[in-house]
Amino acid sequence: MSTATELTIRRPDDWHLHLRDGGMLKGVIGDASRHFARAIIMPNLVPPVVTTADAAAYRERIMAVLPKGDRFEPLMTLYLTEGTDPDDLEAGHASGLITAVKLYPAGATTNSHGGVRNFENAMPALERMAKIGLPLCVHGEVTTPEVDIFDREAVFIETVLDPLRARLPELKVTMEHVTTKDGIDYIKSSKANLAGSITTHHLIINRNAILVGGIRPHYYCLPVAKREVHRLALRAAATSGDARFFLGTDSAPHVDPLKECACGCAGIYTSINTMSCLAHVFEQENALDKLEAFTSLNGPAWYGLPVNDETITLRKRAEAVTYPEKIETEAGTVTVFDPMFPLHWQVV
Ligand code: NCD
Ligand code: ZN
Repeated sequence: MSTATELTIRRPDDWHLHLRDGGMLKGVIGDASRHFARAIIMPNLVPPVVTTADAAAYRERIMAVLPKGDRFEPLMTLYLTEGTDPDDLEAGHASGLITAVKLYPAGATTNSHGGVRNFENAMPALERMAKIGLPLCVHGEVTTPEVDIFDREAVFIETVLDPLRARLPELKVTMEHVTTKDGIDYIKSSKANLAGSITTHHLIINRNAILVGGIRPHYYCLPVAKREVHRLALRAAATSGDARFFLGTDSAPHVDPLKECACGCAGIYTSINTMSCLAHVFEQENALDKLEAFTSLNGPAWYGLPVNDETITLRKRAEAVTYPEKIETEAGTVTVFDPMFPLHWQVV
């Protein structure tokens, strides 16, 4: 076990973040901008962010509520549909506004009904992205009703992702929120143009957290947490320093009444305590020296962006560091991820 009690690293970025809109956006933006310099902003609003004009307007709304003094760069994405206009993508990318395009298989997760059903119809956009070097961020789950929810990622890799990459080898693909050993192995086996983001919570919980001792909606997210063997594979990849893996928190706030009900929404809110949780995990894995690569170096390298100049310092305290159990927003109350162990690392 490492005995370090202080760690200074380049300011981290979050390569997968849901900020929502309106009162919720106002309530959560500060938790993201406090520690993170940049974040890839998910486009699954209602209605989704589908054009460059939508993304420009959304970016304005984000910047308008950014706490004074925080320097935070929202990296905007477009929600890929079967009607996405390749020229609009290209213009958005050329202007510097659009960092990536997000593929949600239709029905895969929260607000994804407008996602892609027939990949043939999305090919013109995907071909253009391959040509101009605009990365595709993938929610890697099939939605076929016959496929068990715990197998949806592995089946997606085999039936959708691998054929797509064979057809468009120049397309840069981020497999987001990898949750399985299959996903980790697939990324490791690829020669080029594939990387994966890993969330904080998938490094900490397995599926027992959702189901043992009662059903616990605040541990339910998509892709759903898997067996322990998968969590261990994610931890090994994240703490290995391998440049193909980086942090995407997938912090996804929903108000409590929409989580704590008969058909609760998927999503876990981790922006506020992610850095404390990650330092704990990396210390447990005796890999504090790899934390910076995971949170601050590998992501920018993959997206072709500079590393942040600023640094943050984490300090390990003898007493536990506390976070609010819930945050209040104008949209309602949001429960904060509880890692179920005391946290001692804190960004100072
Ligand atoms: C996300 C959300 O709530 O928007 N939910 C989640 O469980 N991760 C959508 C997503 O990224 O799948
Ligand atoms: Zn997400």
